[in-house]
Amino acid sequence: MSDAIEAGWQRIEGCQHRTLEQLFAADGGRVETLSARLDWGSEEEPGGALFDWSKTHLDDELLSAFESLADAAGFADRRTALLTGGRVNTTENRAAEHTAQRGLGSDAAVEEAAALHQRMHMLVEAIHGGALGEVRHLIHIGIGGSALGPKLAVDALAREGALVEVHVVSNIDGLALEAAFTRCNPAETLIAVASKTFTTVETMTNAASALEWLQHNGVADPYGRVVALTANPDKAVEWGVDETRVLPFPETVGGRYSLWSSIGFPVALALGWQAFDAMLAGARVIDEHFRDTDGRANLPLRAAFADRYYAQVRGCQTRAVFAYDERLALFSGYLQQLEMESNGKRVTAGGTPVRGATAPVTWGGVGTDAQHAVFQLLHQGTVVVPVDFIASVTPGDTLDPAHHRILLKNCFAQGAALMAGQTSDDPARAYPGDRPSATILCDDFDAATLGALIAFHEHRTFANAVLMGINSFDQYGVELGKAIANKIDAGGASFDPATEALLRAADLA
Ligand code: F6P
Repeated sequence: MSDAIEAGWQRIEGCQHRTLEQLFAADGGRVETLSARLDWGSEEEPGGALFDWSKTHLDDELLSAFESLADAAGFADRRTALLTGGRVNTTENRAAEHTAQRGLGSDAAVEEAAALHQRMHMLVEAIHGGALGEVRHLIHIGIGGSALGPKLAVDALAREGALVEVHVVSNIDGLALEAAFTRCNPAETLIAVASKTFTTVETMTNAASALEWLQHNGVADPYGRVVALTANPDKAVEWGVDETRVLPFPETVGGRYSLWSSIGFPVALALGWQAFDAMLAGARVIDEHFRDTDGRANLPLRAAFADRYYAQVRGCQTRAVFAYDERLALFSGYLQQLEMESNGKRVTAGGTPVRGATAPVTWGGVGTDAQHAVFQLLHQGTVVVPVDFIASVTPGDTLDPAHHRILLKNCFAQGAALMAGQTSDDPARAYPGDRPSATILCDDFDAATLGALIAFHEHRTFANAVLMGINSFDQYGVELGKAIANKIDAGGASFDPATEALLRAADLA
């Protein structure tokens, strides 16, 4: 670590600690200073969100100290490298070009993305036009980044119905695939096999079983019903998918950043190309904000300042995200992979230990459900959990507007209560308060907003990584378990006594 980075951290650690109450009392303009609106709508369809970080402990002193740290960590250069096709994934010696899928990147990557999108668009239109016969269902088979994005997007955006019903299956547990089978008519079902590598055991096993299901249920040419979404098109063709139904994406798009590529096929098929395009456009607005804005005004960077402060200075081991909207019920699950697989590391890109804690555990759920289950700990537990609230001004439902009013009021009440706390003579009824939260208040949850929200979190994750000096684009931590599972499968190897006993108990030895 450079002396400048160490000095940056020491300056941050030396900042005066003031409570939220003191911070609000000292600065009457705090809400304005620490909230900002970003717009991604069009004239016909306005849309955007307010990003309010005023209920965090960031103040001018801390923000200045973090800005110095960002300078010392080379934030501007790292950002340029990310957005221009530099090899930011140092361990795998390649670029991370998900923004090129949204039109921002090196000329070559943007051109390639446009051509691949065009190919995907044509296939989607052909399917909608009946080229593959009646298609009412899509079983999308993938795992991790090849499933979480499409699942979130379809769940969020297809609540009022879809052109094609999508069933995302990820787990190797056969119950997951069987559940999809019971909802689909084989003659009207397409299978999407989504895998960057086209080798992932869960996905390939599920895909083989899906083909068998089609065959046993009277579909004469099951491979004719398969679309492959992959960065390894040769492997897909070798497996049996016709080249015309292989939708490739570049190797430089990471799995957890791949919703914008052909992995987004179910979104386009279920909701139409326009919705997929709107999602890309919303993300692009955040990309441009991230590229063009410096220091604390850069909202993903500002959020990363708060993230680093709570994880590294205040020792918070988790952070929670509560969407006060059913449409984002899967959002915290999506963020878990994005943040924990990207930044759950222990060494810097240079191979030395990171100074302090890296990614906290991301968890969360939906409000108001979570209030009646886990908020007790947030208000009175012994650990401080920084919370993000995400809500929409416009309701997704058509019931009595009382539903949405109560929902939003509860969301805002929770942030206020966490911050204010309450004294009481009865210790069991006392709330310590001074508990931080941030709020993203969207105009509505449409496709552009979902794209913007995801891109905001992608760049926040990257900004966190730059401040820690780590490479967020590899995931070697998942390999060891896979290797041991393969050894068990191959047989003949011996393991620790506890694992051996489990294998014997399950008749797998
Ligand atoms: O095991 C982790 C992982 O590699 C994730 O990073 C990825 O999103 C997931 O598995 C699925 O990989 P693939 O898309 O290659 O099937």
